[in-house]
Amino acid sequence: MDADFWLQRWRDGLIGFHQSDINPFLQRHWQRLGLQGGERVFVPLCGKSKDMLWLRKQGHSVFGIELSELAVDSFFKENQLNPSQRHWAGLPCYEADNIALCQGDFFHLRPEHMSSVRAVYDRASLVALPPAMRVDYARHQANILPVGCEVLLISLEYPEGQMEGPPFSIGAAEVETLYGQAFEIEHLETCDTLERNPRFREQGLTELRESCFRLSRR
Ligand SMILES: C[S@@+](CC[C@H](N)C(=O)[O-])C[C@H]1O[C@@H](n2cnc3c(N)ncnc32)[C@H](O)[C@@H]1O
Repeated sequence: MDADFWLQRWRDGLIGFHQSDINPFLQRHWQRLGLQGGERVFVPLCGKSKDMLWLRKQGHSVFGIELSELAVDSFFKENQLNPSQRHWAGLPCYEADNIALCQGDFFHLRPEHMSSVRAVYDRASLVALPPAMRVDYARHQANILPVGCEVLLISLEYPEGQMEGPPFSIGAAEVETLYGQAFEIEHLETCDTLERNPRFREQGLTELRESCFRLSRR
């Protein structure tokens, strides 16, 4: 999935991954990361996720990165926020009310950009990427995140071959393979979620599970 694929999806409004409500796993498990509130939270491949508003409400400053300018623009407009613009890490960044969204490629980020980040909220990023890119994505996260950084990771799993991704199916075994070397992994919860996602049943899925993991950078 290259940049053009995602930019076109946003232009065509094909953003079924976007949730109008706050993610239930986030609300149930965020406190498991043991944060005080006030920490800087990184949201990779953030889209226009409303979960960033929830994180800010917990007292965090939020920093997201997203390829699509349309997504970044929509986030601020739809939430009646009026951002100021600056350049940071060589990227255009927009900031309002303690939420800063940079428009650009996640792979552009370097460790020096992440030194103040204490936690990561990562929903539907891994499942957005084909297998080879997932390896690069996990390796890059390990490279840029500071030691001790906590991650709440949410992924999806469905029977192999029932649907063409994205979203791709990622089970606990793959999370272990991708992250096990650089992160301690705690599997927090798995739920059946086909009922709540009729669009996937219509696409032929007979099972759909969502899983939530806590990762701690060693
Ligand atoms: C499946 S969506 C998930 C969005 C968001 N995390 C959410 O929960 O709504 C994946 C998003 O990642 C963005 N994206 C894909 N590759 C990217 C990259 N290399 N750097 C930054 N954003 C990227 C896409 O534009 C898309 O908005």
